[in-house]
Amino acid sequence: MSTGTTAIGNSAASRDKAHFLHPYTNLKVHETAGPMIVERGKGVYVYDDSGKEYIEGLASLWCVSLGFDNERLVEAAARQMRKLPTYHVFGHKSHDPGIDLAEALIARAPVPMSKVFFANSGSEANDTAIKLIWYYNNALGRPEKKKILSRNKAYHGVTVATASLTGLPNNHRDFDLPIARILHADCPHHYRFAEEGESEEAFATRLAESLEAFILAEGPDTIAAMFAEPIMGAGGVIVPPATYFQKIQPVLKKYDILLVADEVICGFMRTGNYWGTQTFGMQPDILTCAKALSSGYLPISAVMVSEAVYQACVVESEKIGTFGHGYTYSAHPVAAAVALETLKIYDERDILGHVRAVAPVFQRRLKALSDHPLVGETRGTGLIGALELVADKATKQPFEPVGMAGARVNGLCQENGLISRAMGDSLALCPPLIITEAEVGTMFDRLEKALDAAVPVLKG
Ligand SMILES: Cc1ncc(COP(=O)(O)O)c(C=O)c1O
Repeated sequence: MSTGTTAIGNSAASRDKAHFLHPYTNLKVHETAGPMIVERGKGVYVYDDSGKEYIEGLASLWCVSLGFDNERLVEAAARQMRKLPTYHVFGHKSHDPGIDLAEALIARAPVPMSKVFFANSGSEANDTAIKLIWYYNNALGRPEKKKILSRNKAYHGVTVATASLTGLPNNHRDFDLPIARILHADCPHHYRFAEEGESEEAFATRLAESLEAFILAEGPDTIAAMFAEPIMGAGGVIVPPATYFQKIQPVLKKYDILLVADEVICGFMRTGNYWGTQTFGMQPDILTCAKALSSGYLPISAVMVSEAVYQACVVESEKIGTFGHGYTYSAHPVAAAVALETLKIYDERDILGHVRAVAPVFQRRLKALSDHPLVGETRGTGLIGALELVADKATKQPFEPVGMAGARVNGLCQENGLISRAMGDSLALCPPLIITEAEVGTMFDRLEKALDAAVPVLKG
């Protein structure tokens, strides 16, 4: 029974306002605005409690690769629920779904990987990766080599350590973050940070030189690893400039700094290859993934580690007596069974082939929006993209205050039956991978309507 003092109406919206603390929400605004209640989903569509239809243009936070009504995933969960609904994997215990999924991921890894550790979210996967990196350097007798490099505008999660890696001000401000030993390097966004007339390749060279100078200033013997999303998602869908990873990886290698590829968004075909790592020529020592691992149907994430990282863990755990890390729900059998079925469906339905067929249509429609009076830049690869709203196309001057224009256009998208996500004044699109060409067309028609409706609001 509630002991709260708030007057509680009977509607779901008023009960939400009375009890529910929402993530990533202006809590004061929510007290009056209340929630949008999503009731059901079908294919790439979701429906609110008034029956209004929306294309889920962000696949429910970059997750739902197979759409909202995949019966095989439902069945896989039900089957496993009936057989072994839950069990842990601590202290030598194991189960078939965990074993099968670990094997399936190692078989699909973009570079040789040795072992898989399971967690429940992208944040937990990246948090685990940080701990493994510290463990690794202790095993190697390098207690000073512990700093972790990230980048401005990166998104790696919200735990204390991973929010520190995240390079966005609102994830640090008044949470007393970042913690010590986390460093942020340059954001590789050509449109915003290249010099006048600088090519993508020249910009990438300058970023690699700047990274090396940064490492030398900090002391290479103090830097353990760098985290990088292949495409920076929540920072605004920032596609790295041509040759970027080809130029920064030799710098990392030179100073014996591990590379962690955060594939939480880019993994599983999103960028037009199985892994974002392959699209951008990355050679990670550790790879984290989540979201589309289970098409978002159940919470599960994975950390794949190289043989060298694994061997260091063996040394440490033998010395200490245990590998003292793990979540109650690591490799939860139902989540693992659903993830395994997801990977099977990807193969059987040739989702990669489908993405490669539809992506050019998606990218063509996105690029065409560059001519819109509110749009400064469009960017993307595969089935992920964004547009950036600007007050002045020639000078790239943003709207004031930052985020206002993004929120307005995002609201208009919603009115027009499209769920997108505003990140500052960039609007992201990352639809379910099963989206058809016709649905891509409908999605962009709705987006165009919203943008046109925003012109008098923002320019008038
Ligand atoms: C690249 C990336 N890493 C990590 C995370 C954190 O994942 P989670 O929200 O599951 O903790 C996200 C979430 O959007 C992400 O986009």
